Amino acid sequence: MTHTMNQTDFGQTATDQLRNRLAAAGQEHTLQFWDQLEPGERAQLTAQLESIDVNRLNCQDEGSELDLDEATLTAPDQIKWSADSSEDESLVKLGEQMMSRGELGVLIAAGGQGTRLGLSQPKGCLPIGPVTGASLFQILIEKVVAASREFDCEIPVVMLCSPATHRETIEYLDAENWFGLPESCRHTLCQKTLPAVDRKTGRLLMESPSSLCLSPNGHGGHLSELVDCGLLEKLTDAGVTTLFYCQVDNPMAPLCEPGVIGEHLRNEAELTVLVTPRTSPEEKVGTVICVDGVPQVIEYTIIPEELAARRDAEGRLEFRAANTGIHLFDTAFLQREADHFSSLPLHQANKKVPHIDEQGATVIPDEPNAIKFERFIFDVFPRSRKTLVLEIDPLTGFAPVKNADGANSPSEVQGQILQANRAWLASRGLRVDEGVPVETVPMLTSFTDPEIRLGRRVA
Ligand code: UD1
Repeated sequence: MTHTMNQTDFGQTATDQLRNRLAAAGQEHTLQFWDQLEPGERAQLTAQLESIDVNRLNCQDEGSELDLDEATLTAPDQIKWSADSSEDESLVKLGEQMMSRGELGVLIAAGGQGTRLGLSQPKGCLPIGPVTGASLFQILIEKVVAASREFDCEIPVVMLCSPATHRETIEYLDAENWFGLPESCRHTLCQKTLPAVDRKTGRLLMESPSSLCLSPNGHGGHLSELVDCGLLEKLTDAGVTTLFYCQVDNPMAPLCEPGVIGEHLRNEAELTVLVTPRTSPEEKVGTVICVDGVPQVIEYTIIPEELAARRDAEGRLEFRAANTGIHLFDTAFLQREADHFSSLPLHQANKKVPHIDEQGATVIPDEPNAIKFERFIFDVFPRSRKTLVLEIDPLTGFAPVKNADGANSPSEVQGQILQANRAWLASRGLRVDEGVPVETVPMLTSFTDPEIRLGRRVA
């Protein structure tokens, strides 16, 4: 008798296969509510389970320092850049002409939820302009709009979101008409997620009977998505050769600065990493260190304490290049390395993750109970054949908003914006009375004309 496989048989076989795979990995509990699920819920859970490689989600202790061979470590060679010292006209011209040819694109990492700030909206919506009240999104996008007007070109912007920020980011930017960015230049993409596992047992945590506990897969996940959704190819086909990348939390990022782009081009780099001097061993920044001569970022969570604190003969930190999260990537570099994006390392963080227990009851933990996994965009750095490490002035280029109070808080960042503008005006002989707040406005600023910079940069 021949047996014709009907839908029910097939469904059963597929479920059995999934169950066997999960059992082999010690994760069979994820199907324990299977019999109670509706078809749509079953499909959702199956899709989640099939998209992950459970064997890669193995846990180690977070915070365990990296095991580095000291003999291989050196501080990177650096070039300094500042907007004011960009008198090298040929350098500025290089960047300007490149933008005029339509070869620049912009990536803004905006997938973080701003939990440390206690925000319920995406972090980019945070009002930060000390005079104008402009949001982080507005300040950064207006820098791009200003450059595209000045250099008479289109500069596509890709807002890199996560499932936690994607919908709200689109709603916010659409409502603001993307601050004047032409429609043809507006892009968003949404990174994927990774499941959280129980810290002690390594078992996948369930958010509900039909869903795992999922969280954004880190900004390294944007790279895979950029390729998978076809956007990298689309941008390349449109003539974009370099992507200027920054984090949404830094309103002072020198986005589209022709001098920065000029340095990238003049040095024929396929990757440029902007750094500032680390101020203390404890500063929560990644450090750019050469391993076997190749620059890479060693994150503050895993750098050996002794290495972070080591001083040279002059008493300065030996490894003092702080990662600003501002990078320039050649599209050819990203295309060449695309196959490696899905195998970038998985970093671990201990977190409190609410979940359901075996009876289906909700558990709200008081202590970190779970490990979340993330990929970091800078783990692609060692694959670059030519990396430029460019030092910028922290006062004028690096003011990330991270915490509700204290260091890197909105009020500290606003203070820095005011201070930078005041210093800038003073350097040109313009005195602003004490207590009068001044803020530069990208739309009234010129990237290249010193007279316009001087006369119109004040709001
Ligand atoms: C980050 C860098 C650190 C650098 C510092 C500078 C990492 C891992 N470390 O630290 O080396 O010195 O900034 O300010 O990035 N994001 C996503 N998707 C995610 C996670 C984060 O888009 O899944 C975005 C966030 O929106 C943010 C950026 O990535 O714009 C950085 O994330 P954040 O958690 O703020 O990193 P830090 O620990 O502050």
